[in-house]
Amino acid sequence: MKTKLTELLGIEHPIIMGAMAWYTDSKMVSAICNAGGTGVIATGGRDLDWVRDQIRKTKELTDKPFGVNLMLMDPKVDQVADIVIEEKVAFVTLGAGNPVPFFEKLKAGGVKVLPVIPNLKLAKRVEEKGADAIIVEGMEAGGHIGTLTTMAHMTNIIPNVNIPVIMAGGFGDGRGIAAALLMGAAGVQIGSRFLVSHESSGHPNAKQRIIEATDTDVVVTGYSRGHGVRGLRSKFTDEYIAMEVSGVPQDELNKFATGTNKKAAIDGDCEYGLVQVGQSVVPITKEMSIKEIVDELMEETVKTLQKAPDLLK
Ligand SMILES: Cc1cc2nc3c(=O)[nH]c(=O)nc-3n(C[C@H](O)[C@H](O)[C@H](O)COP(=O)(O)O)c2cc1C
Repeated sequence: MKTKLTELLGIEHPIIMGAMAWYTDSKMVSAICNAGGTGVIATGGRDLDWVRDQIRKTKELTDKPFGVNLMLMDPKVDQVADIVIEEKVAFVTLGAGNPVPFFEKLKAGGVKVLPVIPNLKLAKRVEEKGADAIIVEGMEAGGHIGTLTTMAHMTNIIPNVNIPVIMAGGFGDGRGIAAALLMGAAGVQIGSRFLVSHESSGHPNAKQRIIEATDTDVVVTGYSRGHGVRGLRSKFTDEYIAMEVSGVPQDELNKFATGTNKKAAIDGDCEYGLVQVGQSVVPITKEMSIKEIVDELMEETVKTLQKAPDLLK
């Protein structure tokens, strides 16, 4: 399939596997690259040696382009950017802060910049400052979220910028990908759907919880304070939300939440850890290889697009 995203990155399918802290490493990223999409190494919580090592391992496992996530609030973000340039990584995604100060250095180093954007104003600003594409994430997504939905973002942002727009949040099957492409997106970024894959190093307990989950099992902590994080309901989320509504100070809540993603993803504690996952969990019914997931997504996408002209008959 040819879209502005496949052309920008030189990939076969318009699918990016988004960075997922404690999950997306060389194994997952090389698997999606070899399946025709591309993927992003997550750097949150990792040290610099791990980042360089994972970039090098990914290069050994695939000759296709891949990305690295720059967490803009991470005190080591400048050094991560330097490693990305030294290792000639194809692109970065940048989130959780102002991405603009990083553009010049990264672009001069030959690295494409794809900031993750929460609203139209910032979309226009990063376009003006030279972003190669934007990733626009709706609040259906797993992990840290904003306040607007994917559909509202597609409606508001896609017609108002000229660079490729990659939509994220809630894409769990090919019908959704087809809908985004018809809305004018250049591609999609997907996270949750890839958590339950053979290549994912996520703990079997976390994978099983996701398989068993239905739509209403997915909740948000911290939304009322502007720090929304989406994941599966658990003892942790019940307690956190009770503390949140009863007015517990933010730093105490932060302390309570620190490390909960890792606790679920790596240690397998899905009650006092948080299994971060998005709203579109129903299509996740079994563990598959990343290639099988990508093939299924693309087959559904093509079928849906092929059927679309029937609506006009
Ligand atoms: C477990 C998990 C961890 C995530 N960690 C990050 C991260 O470290 N950096 C980032 O930019 N996005 C992160 N995300 C967001 C994903 O990259 C992606 O945009 C999102 O999952 C898309 O929505 P979906 O989950 O509905 O597919 C994370 C998402 C999940 C589910």
